[in-house]
Amino acid sequence: MKYTVLALLSFLLLSACMQEEIVEEIYEGPETEKAVVVIHPTEGNEASGVVTFTQQDDGVRVQAEISGLGSETLHGFHVHEYGDCRDSAAMSAGGHYNPTDMPHAGPTDEQRHMGDLGNLPANEDGVATLDYVDTHLKLNGKYSIVGYAVIVHEQRDDLQSQPVGDAGGRIGCGIIGVANPDY
Ligand code: CU
Ligand code: ZN
Repeated sequence: MKYTVLALLSFLLLSACMQEEIVEEIYEGPETEKAVVVIHPTEGNEASGVVTFTQQDDGVRVQAEISGLGSETLHGFHVHEYGDCRDSAAMSAGGHYNPTDMPHAGPTDEQRHMGDLGNLPANEDGVATLDYVDTHLKLNGKYSIVGYAVIVHEQRDDLQSQPVGDAGGRIGCGIIGVANPDY
Protein backbone atom coordinates (compact mmCIF):
# COMPACT_ATOMS: atom_id res chain seq x y z
CA MET A 1 0.00 0.00 0.00
CA LYS A 2 2.74 2.40 1.09
CA TYR A 3 4.62 1.72 -2.11
CA THR A 4 1.53 2.23 -4.22
CA VAL A 5 0.99 5.65 -2.66
CA LEU A 6 4.65 6.53 -3.17
CA ALA A 7 4.55 5.38 -6.74
CA LEU A 8 1.39 7.36 -7.35
CA LEU A 9 2.89 10.46 -5.75
CA SER A 10 6.07 10.31 -7.77
CA PHE A 11 4.05 9.73 -10.91
CA LEU A 12 1.97 12.84 -10.15
CA LEU A 13 5.08 14.90 -9.46
CA LEU A 14 6.72 13.75 -12.66
CA SER A 15 3.69 14.50 -14.79
CA ALA A 16 3.36 17.94 -13.17
CA CYS A 17 6.96 18.70 -14.17
CA MET A 18 6.40 17.49 -17.69
CA GLN A 19 3.28 19.58 -17.98
CA GLU A 20 5.18 22.65 -16.87
CA GLU A 21 7.72 22.04 -19.61
CA ILE A 22 4.99 21.68 -22.19
CA VAL A 23 3.28 24.87 -21.00
CA GLU A 24 6.59 26.76 -21.20
CA GLU A 25 7.09 25.53 -24.75
CA ILE A 26 3.63 26.69 -25.76
CA TYR A 27 4.04 30.15 -24.28
CA GLU A 28 7.57 30.80 -25.38
CA GLY A 29 7.08 29.44 -28.88
CA PRO A 30 9.88 28.70 -31.32
CA GLU A 31 12.83 31.09 -31.69
CA THR A 32 12.46 33.55 -34.55
CA GLU A 33 15.52 33.40 -36.78
CA LYS A 34 14.28 35.53 -39.63
CA ALA A 35 11.64 38.23 -39.92
CA VAL A 36 10.23 39.92 -43.01
CA VAL A 37 8.48 43.19 -43.82
CA VAL A 38 6.62 44.06 -47.01
CA ILE A 39 6.63 47.85 -47.38
CA HIS A 40 3.53 49.36 -48.97
CA PRO A 41 3.28 53.01 -50.03
CA THR A 42 1.16 55.40 -48.02
CA GLU A 43 -1.48 57.45 -49.85
CA GLY A 44 -0.01 59.48 -52.70
CA ASN A 45 3.44 57.84 -52.44
CA GLU A 46 5.28 55.00 -54.16
CA ALA A 47 7.72 53.51 -51.67
CA SER A 48 7.52 49.73 -51.78
CA GLY A 49 9.78 46.74 -51.26
CA VAL A 50 10.96 44.12 -48.81
CA VAL A 51 13.07 44.23 -45.66
CA THR A 52 14.42 41.14 -43.91
CA PHE A 53 15.95 40.79 -40.45
CA THR A 54 18.11 37.70 -39.92
CA GLN A 55 19.59 36.58 -36.61
CA GLN A 56 23.37 36.08 -36.84
CA ASP A 57 25.98 35.47 -34.16
CA ASP A 58 27.19 39.09 -34.40
CA GLY A 59 23.74 40.73 -34.44
CA VAL A 60 20.73 41.04 -36.72
CA ARG A 61 21.45 41.41 -40.42
CA VAL A 62 19.20 44.04 -42.00
CA GLN A 63 18.66 43.71 -45.74
CA ALA A 64 16.36 46.08 -47.60
CA GLU A 65 15.45 46.74 -51.19
CA ILE A 66 13.02 49.59 -51.56
CA SER A 67 11.90 51.33 -54.76
CA GLY A 68 9.76 54.39 -55.47
CA LEU A 69 12.10 56.74 -53.61
CA GLY A 70 13.64 60.06 -54.67
CA SER A 71 16.61 60.22 -57.02
CA GLU A 72 19.93 60.09 -55.13
CA THR A 73 18.36 61.02 -51.81
CA LEU A 74 18.44 59.62 -48.30
CA HIS A 75 15.26 58.45 -46.60
CA GLY A 76 14.87 57.96 -42.85
CA PHE A 77 14.26 54.31 -41.99
CA HIS A 78 12.98 53.15 -38.60
CA VAL A 79 11.12 50.57 -36.58
CA HIS A 80 8.10 52.33 -35.07
CA GLU A 81 6.32 51.55 -31.83
CA TYR A 82 3.06 50.08 -33.19
CA GLY A 83 2.62 47.42 -35.84
CA ASP A 84 -0.18 49.47 -37.29
CA CYS A 85 -0.19 50.87 -40.84
CA ARG A 86 -3.94 51.59 -40.94
CA ASP A 87 -3.70 55.33 -41.26
CA SER A 88 -3.35 56.57 -44.87
CA ALA A 89 -0.23 58.52 -43.79
CA ALA A 90 0.91 55.71 -41.42
CA MET A 91 0.60 57.96 -38.37
CA SER A 92 -0.99 54.96 -36.60
CA ALA A 93 2.50 53.40 -36.34
CA GLY A 94 3.31 55.96 -33.60
CA GLY A 95 6.81 57.16 -32.73
CA HIS A 96 10.11 55.30 -32.90
CA TYR A 97 10.34 51.93 -31.17
CA ASN A 98 12.15 52.89 -27.99
CA PRO A 99 11.60 50.32 -25.21
CA THR A 100 14.86 51.26 -23.47
CA ASP A 101 14.02 54.99 -23.24
CA MET A 102 17.00 56.35 -25.19
CA PRO A 103 17.44 59.50 -27.31
CA HIS A 104 17.09 59.44 -31.11
CA ALA A 105 20.37 58.72 -32.91
CA GLY A 106 21.92 56.69 -35.72
CA PRO A 107 22.27 52.92 -36.12
CA THR A 108 25.91 52.81 -35.02
CA ASP A 109 25.46 55.00 -31.93
CA GLU A 110 25.59 53.18 -28.63
CA GLN A 111 22.65 55.13 -27.23
CA ARG A 112 19.77 55.19 -29.68
CA HIS A 113 16.16 54.21 -30.09
CA MET A 114 16.01 50.47 -30.72
CA GLY A 115 14.22 51.40 -33.95
CA ASP A 116 16.86 53.78 -35.33
CA LEU A 117 17.99 52.15 -38.57
CA GLY A 118 19.41 55.31 -40.14
CA ASN A 119 18.78 56.08 -43.80
CA LEU A 120 18.01 54.27 -47.03
CA PRO A 121 20.35 55.56 -49.78
CA ALA A 122 18.35 55.82 -53.02
CA ASN A 123 20.21 55.63 -56.35
CA GLU A 124 19.35 57.76 -59.38
CA ASP A 125 16.45 55.40 -60.18
CA GLY A 126 14.94 55.84 -56.73
CA VAL A 127 15.92 52.35 -55.57
CA ALA A 128 17.72 51.81 -52.28
CA THR A 129 19.53 48.70 -51.13
CA LEU A 130 20.83 48.36 -47.62
CA ASP A 131 22.71 45.47 -46.00
CA TYR A 132 24.30 45.80 -42.59
CA VAL A 133 24.50 44.00 -39.24
CA ASP A 134 22.72 45.79 -36.41
CA THR A 135 24.01 45.13 -32.90
CA HIS A 136 20.96 46.55 -31.08
CA LEU A 137 18.02 44.79 -32.71
CA LYS A 138 16.45 41.66 -31.22
CA LEU A 139 14.15 39.13 -32.88
CA ASN A 140 13.32 37.37 -29.60
CA GLY A 141 12.68 38.20 -25.97
CA LYS A 142 11.12 41.26 -24.43
CA TYR A 143 12.67 43.76 -26.86
CA SER A 144 11.80 41.77 -29.99
CA ILE A 145 10.91 43.94 -32.98
CA VAL A 146 8.53 41.31 -34.39
CA GLY A 147 5.00 42.69 -34.57
CA TYR A 148 6.02 46.34 -34.92
CA ALA A 149 6.21 48.48 -38.07
CA VAL A 150 8.97 49.65 -40.39
CA ILE A 151 8.50 53.15 -41.78
CA VAL A 152 10.24 54.74 -44.77
CA HIS A 153 10.36 58.54 -44.61
CA GLU A 154 10.15 61.25 -47.21
CA GLN A 155 13.36 62.93 -46.08
CA ARG A 156 16.76 62.22 -44.67
CA ASP A 157 17.14 61.38 -40.99
CA ASP A 158 19.82 63.73 -39.60
CA LEU A 159 20.52 61.11 -36.87
CA GLN A 160 20.42 63.70 -34.11
CA SER A 161 17.31 65.93 -34.04
CA GLN A 162 14.91 64.87 -31.28
CA PRO A 163 12.70 62.97 -31.20
CA VAL A 164 12.69 61.58 -34.76
CA GLY A 165 15.62 62.97 -36.80
CA ASP A 166 13.53 65.51 -38.71
CA ALA A 167 12.82 62.94 -41.44
CA GLY A 168 9.44 64.34 -42.53
CA GLY A 169 6.40 62.42 -43.72
CA ARG A 170 5.92 58.67 -43.98
CA ILE A 171 5.96 57.34 -47.53
CA GLY A 172 5.98 53.60 -46.80
CA CYS A 173 4.86 51.30 -44.00
CA GLY A 174 5.03 47.55 -43.33
CA ILE A 175 4.63 45.12 -40.42
CA ILE A 176 7.47 42.94 -39.14
CA GLY A 177 6.37 39.30 -39.21
CA VAL A 178 7.99 35.88 -38.83
CA ALA A 179 9.51 34.90 -42.20
CA ASN A 180 8.84 31.65 -44.02
CA PRO A 181 12.28 29.97 -44.19
CA ASP A 182 11.47 28.52 -47.64
CA TYR A 183 11.47 31.98 -49.26
CU1 CU B 1 10.37 56.77 -38.67
ZN1 ZN C 1 14.64 57.42 -33.32
